[in-house]
Amino acid sequence: MCGIIGYVGKKAAAPILLEALRRLQYRGYDSAGIAVLSDDGRLTVRKKVGKLDDGLARLVQDQPVTGHLGIGHTRWATHGPPSDENSHPHLDQSGKIAVVHNGVIENCDRLKERFLKAGHIFRSATDTEVLAHLIGDHYDRQPRANGQPASLTQAVCDALREVIGTYGIAVISSEHPGLIIGARRGSPLIIGIGDNENFLTSDSNAIVAHTRQVVFLNDYDVATVTAERFDVQNLGADTAKVQISRLEFASEEAERGAYSHFMLKEIFEQPRAVENALRGRIDFEAATARFGGLNMTVAELRSIERIVIGATGTSWHAALVGEYLIEQLAHLPVEVEFSHEFSTRNAPLQRDTVLLVLSQSGETADTLGALREAKRRGHRALSIINVVGSTIARESDGGIYMHAGPEIGVASTKAFVSTLTILSLLAVHLGRMRMLSAAQATEILRALEAAPAQLQSILAQDAAINKLALKYASADDFFFLGRGYTYPIALEGALKLKEISYIHAEGYSAAEMKHGPIALIDPKTPVVFVIPQDSMYEKTLANLAMIRARRGPIIALATEGDTQIQNVADDVFYLPKTLEPIYPILAAVPLQLLAYHIAVSRGCDVDKPRNLAKSVTVQ
Ligand code: G6P
Repeated sequence: MCGIIGYVGKKAAAPILLEALRRLQYRGYDSAGIAVLSDDGRLTVRKKVGKLDDGLARLVQDQPVTGHLGIGHTRWATHGPPSDENSHPHLDQSGKIAVVHNGVIENCDRLKERFLKAGHIFRSATDTEVLAHLIGDHYDRQPRANGQPASLTQAVCDALREVIGTYGIAVISSEHPGLIIGARRGSPLIIGIGDNENFLTSDSNAIVAHTRQVVFLNDYDVATVTAERFDVQNLGADTAKVQISRLEFASEEAERGAYSHFMLKEIFEQPRAVENALRGRIDFEAATARFGGLNMTVAELRSIERIVIGATGTSWHAALVGEYLIEQLAHLPVEVEFSHEFSTRNAPLQRDTVLLVLSQSGETADTLGALREAKRRGHRALSIINVVGSTIARESDGGIYMHAGPEIGVASTKAFVSTLTILSLLAVHLGRMRMLSAAQATEILRALEAAPAQLQSILAQDAAINKLALKYASADDFFFLGRGYTYPIALEGALKLKEISYIHAEGYSAAEMKHGPIALIDPKTPVVFVIPQDSMYEKTLANLAMIRARRGPIIALATEGDTQIQNVADDVFYLPKTLEPIYPILAAVPLQLLAYHIAVSRGCDVDKPRNLAKSVTVQ
């Protein structure tokens, strides 16, 4: 989704801004722009719809901009279609103030009406331009002593007090050549602290090549940033809580290396992602898992009566696997909700219900909304998050980090498998406080420990999956079916394929297929069965026979040594043998590779699929 960068220092701003925007591309965008302030206060804006290298970067090459301070933005359209005019930065009525903005200004229509009546001219259909005019209006209304410029910080604060909605913003003014103002509410913003230079960004990936020292701003914080210092005030409190944190990942982790796409790199990083998720968390002596950050005593964990898991997209599929894991290993009732439905439908929750939210980015607005709703109602809210220091991680009562490293490909892969690993550990942890025997728990922990090597052996068969992909790449429709633990994996397999190849794909429980969707089966519609040798095997086999009887081509993901399946499937990919609850971790990977190779063969932009954003920070 939209990305923000701001720079103030001694270096030329434009190349730094463009490089940072390049690093923000993975989030999904449709246009990009920068505003640079020259040392003598000339404000120049360059913005362009389309891909960064073909659009903005070329424009800046043809029409260079000079200065040591600037702001930049990648836009993912909300108000108004992608166009040069709607791209950020936007200027106020005077043309002196430039603003970039992530989020949505909900009362923008009313504000715009007010300015239209006052004769303002708007050049775009965006809410951001209205915000720029609002800041400019407050700036112009300030009394000035002896021709001194007004306070930009004050103008931003006054404007934001009038705003309803969400924002992460960076603001500059030609009357303040050394200054950037940043502010956030509901949309992330980070100060990057450099040596005689400072940064503002919505995503630490954009600045990690320059600095690891950061301040994660909180809601209602307004930051005044110069090359030498920064000050933070809070619109709602007397003082702002400012804490300097250190970014942990190395910048090369955000590089593609020899892989043709980030998604492929991240698929191949999964053995390590599982290892990192397990590291230090297995206690074989007590036959359990341990976590540092849940912030709950054993007595509190034991008194949980029900868990609601909230998530969206791929994380929602991980949640469905979590439901099977926790219900079966810990005998705790679990309900899985889309975050957005949970936060709006006012579900009655019994007192000892805990909300667990899952989010790779830790910034998904829908999931943040669910977390805040649960907390507002007095429930404890836990989270499993990848991005350290993200808003959800910071607002949770307790949580578990994935330590999967940055995930750049829009389609989530390693974070999914990492979440499944942590959910398995959590189920063991909760189970051991209830009814799970030491022997059962040990078996599961051993299977988890074996998973990285098993994933390696799956990845070693990438060429075979590629071959399979080429065979089926021209299909218009796909079905993915599974039962029990692998039902959510079928949903995820379908999602991966539709996200990056734009092929229509549906995931179903193999049992549900006969209740309607089977009407769509014909010889042109491949059906992927996730059918390991688990407790569902025979039943799924019967479901498979129904598809075969209707001449649907069948691709089976089965367990090594299953000779029966070869007689009924057109193609078989074998998974190493594991325990039933661990099959989701293994089965996810060949489906990711299948989607990847199909998308590549169809010429799709795998890392930046059309219309999608990596982290969706609007509700
Ligand atoms: C977006 C992405 C999906 C992702 C979902 C949840 O829609 O395009 O790939 O699964 O957000 O993201 P989260 O960061 O909360 O896991």
